[in-house]
Amino acid sequence: MERITKVLMTKEGRRFFIRGDEDCHSQFGAVRKEDIAAAKDGTRLPTNTGKEMFLYSPFFRDLYSRIKRGAQIIPLKDIAAIVAETGIGKGSRVVDAGAGTGALACFLAHLAKEVVTYDIRDDFIAIVGENIAFLQLDNITVKNKDIYGGIDEEDVDTITLDVPEPWKALPHAAAALKAGGFLVSYSPSITQTADFTNAVLDNPRFAHIKTFEIIEREWEISGRKVRPVTAAIGHSGFITIARKLQ
Ligand SMILES: C[S@@+](CC[C@H](N)C(=O)[O-])C[C@H]1O[C@@H](n2cnc3c(N)ncnc32)[C@H](O)[C@@H]1O
Repeated sequence: MERITKVLMTKEGRRFFIRGDEDCHSQFGAVRKEDIAAAKDGTRLPTNTGKEMFLYSPFFRDLYSRIKRGAQIIPLKDIAAIVAETGIGKGSRVVDAGAGTGALACFLAHLAKEVVTYDIRDDFIAIVGENIAFLQLDNITVKNKDIYGGIDEEDVDTITLDVPEPWKALPHAAAALKAGGFLVSYSPSITQTADFTNAVLDNPRFAHIKTFEIIEREWEISGRKVRPVTAAIGHSGFITIARKLQ
């Protein structure tokens, strides 16, 4: 994937991504590459049909919105909840599985000291590699490894699991985590969530902190027209937080 060098945004927040040295063509008209190259960030660049576009250099969040994704996408609301509950930050060492296309692992790598993400599918591992390169992350490692078979890392602050049978990773998570470290499981179904939570409750090495889901309702506001947006996000996943005791 070619690097995104600039973004053009309309007053309505519509973004158009410029890759390398190219004109910007959209339903709002065209902006010439020479004008983009000569302009500073924050410059207003009208299209040839008169629509206003504003130029800026991409933020992580802009690039993240363009990574390659698989069918099951972990939404931002759930990533935010995982980060808030665990306090993942610049000193954190994180192990993640399964990587999928790396959406969660890459976002966590943007915040953490280092992330190691496991997956068992070569096709997904290849996509994660592309996404890491596209986001220019240098603190994330991808392993082709079954998390049910063990975790190589030690003294880990947080482990995130998004695998079909997360309870199978419990003994390995107990060995890998620091005392007090966080174990997060993210599952789309409540039966998986209950099986994992019951396994945590039965395991003397972990405390169960909470199981929850995040429901986001976006609102549309324009003058006196104020109402929830019609197409809201439906169900995504349940999050369980546990902490290692011993
Ligand atoms: C729903 S996807 C994960 C999505 C990912 N968390 C994201 O943010 O995009 C589940 C992934 O788990 C992987 N997986 C399944 N069993 C696994 C195991 N035992 N060890 C490691 N990865 C596994 C699958 O190959 C798949 O890529």
